Amino acid sequence: MVALTQDVHLDIRGLGKSFGATRALDDVSVEVRSGSVHSFVGENGAGKSTLGKIVAGVFPPDQGQLVLRGTPVSFHSPRAALERGIALVAQEVALVPQLTVAQNVFLGVEPQRGGFIDRGRLLEQTERLAQDAGFDLRPNALVGRLSIAEQQQVEILRALGRDAELIVLDEPSAALSAKEVEHLHEIVRGLARRGHTVILVSHFLNEVLELADTVTVLRDGKVVQTNPAASETEASLIAAMLGRAAGRAYPDKRPPAPGTAVVLSVSDVHAPGVAGVSLEVRAGEIVGLAGLVGAGRTELARAIYGAAPATSAGMAAGVTTLPGSPSGSLRAGVAMIPESRKDDGLLLQRPVRENVSLTTLPIFDRLGFVRRGMEAEEVGSALTKVSGTPRLEAPASALSGGNQQKLMFARALLAKPNVLIADEPTRGVDVGAKRDLYRLLVEIAAQGVGVLLISNEIEEILGLSHRVVVMRLGSVTAEFEGAEMTEENILAAAFGTAPAAAA
Ligand SMILES: Nc1ncnc2c1ncn2[C@@H]1O[C@H](COP(=O)(O)OP(=O)(O)OP(=O)(O)O)[C@@H](O)[C@H]1O
Ligand SMILES: [Mg+2]
Repeated sequence: MVALTQDVHLDIRGLGKSFGATRALDDVSVEVRSGSVHSFVGENGAGKSTLGKIVAGVFPPDQGQLVLRGTPVSFHSPRAALERGIALVAQEVALVPQLTVAQNVFLGVEPQRGGFIDRGRLLEQTERLAQDAGFDLRPNALVGRLSIAEQQQVEILRALGRDAELIVLDEPSAALSAKEVEHLHEIVRGLARRGHTVILVSHFLNEVLELADTVTVLRDGKVVQTNPAASETEASLIAAMLGRAAGRAYPDKRPPAPGTAVVLSVSDVHAPGVAGVSLEVRAGEIVGLAGLVGAGRTELARAIYGAAPATSAGMAAGVTTLPGSPSGSLRAGVAMIPESRKDDGLLLQRPVRENVSLTTLPIFDRLGFVRRGMEAEEVGSALTKVSGTPRLEAPASALSGGNQQKLMFARALLAKPNVLIADEPTRGVDVGAKRDLYRLLVEIAAQGVGVLLISNEIEEILGLSHRVVVMRLGSVTAEFEGAEMTEENILAAAFGTAPAAAA
């Protein structure tokens, strides 16, 4: 079929972009058709976010041209792109924490009355947007108090509230739970039905195949192929992304022998959002912690790790009380890969090396001096294990989203813990690297580390865990092992629709 020019919403012609020696985009040409959902997939660092940012006016390309409905355009700011109907929901949430949900959603485009912001209408419009989207957000809530998932929802409402014709969604579902992902999919379908165009960047290939009309695969900044989604499969996309077929997703499970020592045991933990949780993890055991967003999983993780105030009736692991602080945790052999790399310790302006060794610097200390050679070596080896970048001296801000996530993983490894609390450890990581990380988690456990794994991907929980604990409304509501460990059982317990299962 011959494409008519007017069908093309955005014609991306020969875009090039370099960051220093890194060629992030190289001669990228793609036609994005009006009213279509056009997906971009590729490994971490392939150039997806860079492309999205250029389209949305965050920065200009070095080479090439954007042609919007037949007219060449060059945007000097996101505002300029917005004026031409293009909005970006960025991979990293960029909201003002001190403002409310409503203020963030309509920042800069607030409904006015007599020269003043019309607060009533602001709240009302936000409420309506949230309702339409199926998000349970209070317009008056302070954004700084919201969970990552909720902040992501605010980002999405921001784009919707601006009524853009072309919306770039850069990994919008990475922080959402199954139910919210469903809502998001409805939103995307609804947008396309109403004639909007959606550019969707996602590492969830099932999501891509379900939603997209067209899929472009990027590798090393170049277009590998652009095809109708109907002619692709997960395997074909992975092969194009990696330049090879991928191995099995989940390695064999190696559960600990019965009677293996307990390395983490907390009882009756109380913390904000956590109402009396008790659980145990044995050496070598991977325990999945499942539940909906807001069920208290992250709060529990932070409470155990000492990142949030908490009380517990007891805790074993050679430790008799909660460590009370992250540094206390490290001394007690408890490491955490946090849910939010941005809020929990990623120093964007500091080099990769420092970001990885930050919490374990004492290891490299001799008489007050950091042994740099040893530090670089250990950091380099931890990064290799997580298939991360070996660019030790680059600032973390120069890494793609998925590669930043790998830094947090490497940091936890470096601490050589007995207990690893991993809160969404593979968020934003590409399929190939995910498999590497799964193998690594299983290996770490096999060496005797007890792993508490939090994930919104039930498949990931099922694929890796020896046992699954389900939380709902701050409490443990069910625990599954062996044949009982099924998606149905977990979901039912997470939603509270299960026949009362023993905890
Ligand atoms: N501000 C920057 N400074 C230096 N290099 C950068 C910058 N932003 C991106 N890069 C580099 O450009 C390349 C492409 O990055 P980009 O963020 O577009 O990848 P991506 O496909 O979105 O990856 P991910 O799936 O991990 O989010 C990477 O090598 C990255 O390190
Ligand atoms: Mg990205």
